[in-house]
Amino acid sequence: MPLELCRTVAEFRAACDRVRSLGRRVGLVPTMGALHAGHVALVHEARRRADDAAVTIFVNPTQFGPNEDFAKYPRTLESDLAKCEAAGAALVFAPEAGEMYLAGETTRVRVDGLTAHLCGRVRPGHFEGVTTIVAKLFAVAGACTAVFGRKDYQQLKVIQRMTADLLLPVDVVGFPTVREADGLALSSRNAYLSAEDRQRALVLSRSLAAAVRRFESAERGAGALRRPVEQAISAVGLSPDYVTLADSETLEPFGDDAVVGDRALLALAVRVGGARLIDNVVLGEDGAPGASE
Ligand code: PAJ
Repeated sequence: MPLELCRTVAEFRAACDRVRSLGRRVGLVPTMGALHAGHVALVHEARRRADDAAVTIFVNPTQFGPNEDFAKYPRTLESDLAKCEAAGAALVFAPEAGEMYLAGETTRVRVDGLTAHLCGRVRPGHFEGVTTIVAKLFAVAGACTAVFGRKDYQQLKVIQRMTADLLLPVDVVGFPTVREADGLALSSRNAYLSAEDRQRALVLSRSLAAAVRRFESAERGAGALRRPVEQAISAVGLSPDYVTLADSETLEPFGDDAVVGDRALLALAVRVGGARLIDNVVLGEDGAPGASE
């Protein structure tokens, strides 16, 4: 079946309705485009979990802060469409901003609690922008299964909370982080990295891998798990926005004196050259990222 490109809310809503009227399920993959193999893996997962994959491509202005990279965020619609088609997606929704944010609009969707931590502390308003656009995308797509990457673990948890709280007819599922062979998590923002920064960025996944191994050797001290990650990042001359060990459900940070249980989220955000990169592992659940070391 050829890929169908929808540019308006009305077209995409009608296309999703048509899928359901054939007794088929929509598998939604929200993205901001500049698609890479991580996004493509979500499309395949959507096809496994549903019948027809629908990819949305929209660089959402409300989730970028005033000094962030909205203007320079890569926009590559032609090659994105080719990747969607190759991955077997049935629909792509690529609206103009005016389709998603009507003139005079004043409504925002805000999730409390989970957004107080991690990226929410350093990117004020970011998650409100994310939940607002995702709620709109869910409203247009209708009942579906939606696939999100665990690379943005906090985002996944916030969207699951919003979907439950608003009784939205969407089954939100997470998918493991897709990485380069050397461990670097795929990200559209890796395009900003120079060759040298790309090399330095490996400290993110490598230090998380070392923490996984310490956890697997029965280390349960929060500081003993967290601090070496921070030190490894400083040692290559980078200063993290945060390196946090947190409860994997509530995202409440553990103090370094705490002792963690069977599972804990270890998440970090680091500026590397012109890019702000994030990565995480759930200790007790995820294996060590990357093959090397
Ligand atoms: P974007 O950064 O384009 O990511 C789209 C989806 O791809 C998200 O669910 C993200 O977690 C997932 N993803 C990105 N890199 C991945 C990787 N290496 N492995 C697995 N999944 C990966 O996240 C957004 O866009 C936006 O905030 C959005 C939800 C679309 C709302 O605007």
